[in-house]
Amino acid sequence: MPSDSFDTTVAHPARRYNYWLGGKDNFAADRANGDAVEAAMPTIRLMAVENRRFLGRAARFLAQQGIRQFLDIGTGIPAPGNTHEVVQAVDPTAKIVYVDNDPIVLSHARALLTSAPSGTVAYLDADLREPRAILAAAADTLDFTQPVGLLLVAVLHFIRDDEDPQGIVDTLLEALPSGSYVVATHATWQFTPADAVEKLQAANPDGRFAPRNGTDFVRLFDSLKLVEPGLTSVAHWRADDEAEQPRPSAEDVSCFGIVARKS
Ligand SMILES: C[S@@+](CC[C@H](N)C(=O)[O-])C[C@H]1O[C@@H](n2cnc3c(N)ncnc32)[C@H](O)[C@@H]1O
Repeated sequence: MPSDSFDTTVAHPARRYNYWLGGKDNFAADRANGDAVEAAMPTIRLMAVENRRFLGRAARFLAQQGIRQFLDIGTGIPAPGNTHEVVQAVDPTAKIVYVDNDPIVLSHARALLTSAPSGTVAYLDADLREPRAILAAAADTLDFTQPVGLLLVAVLHFIRDDEDPQGIVDTLLEALPSGSYVVATHATWQFTPADAVEKLQAANPDGRFAPRNGTDFVRLFDSLKLVEPGLTSVAHWRADDEAEQPRPSAEDVSCFGIVARKS
């Protein structure tokens, strides 16, 4: 179900995340909901920043492993360090297909489509809950006989259990040839005190946000081999070279990250 509406009176994940990252592409409803979440989870902005840093480190890692084609689903409003900027800095011929279902992301797609001249960047207005449609359209740009880097960064927690996250992930993984990689992150309330969880639930009235514990998140990728150090907070995955040391705690950055390889 691609985007067909632009309702600014309801908070949207892409615009709320943009607000937490200090961006300007958000509306009063996004800020109000973002503030309600922040009241219950005061480190939410740090979590957004650390998720973004993880995305940069993991995308660079894939490019360094020789991956030259990327499918980035739930890409978000453009922000410094977009996937194509990171991977085309390693190889300007890299191809990237961005996917999102938020109309505001679509309205910014031109800002995402600033490929290096020798590479390719495409944008699909599509929904993760329809993975076959994504794969069919992405095949116009990506060659699914060659390894692909699949990015599911901070998007699976918008897929509820009744929407079959395992089936969605399996459909995407089946399309990837051996040697492909997955980068995924997922918010959790595993470390969050019960009174804060109550407030977070109140700030999530439509139930669209579905945090999971680490075990349930990583189980979605059971068929793959995790790259070291395996399941960690996004703040800790291969972060020794980050400027900010010591790294924030897993409790403060309540978001898991993995990089995994299909053999
Ligand atoms: C928190 S942002 C993450 C952006 C980027 N991946 C990052 O980590 O910096 C989540 C994005 O997923 C998108 N999203 C949520 N549900 C989606 C769905 N069912 N299909 C496609 N995109 C979705 C939102 O519109 C938003 O842009």
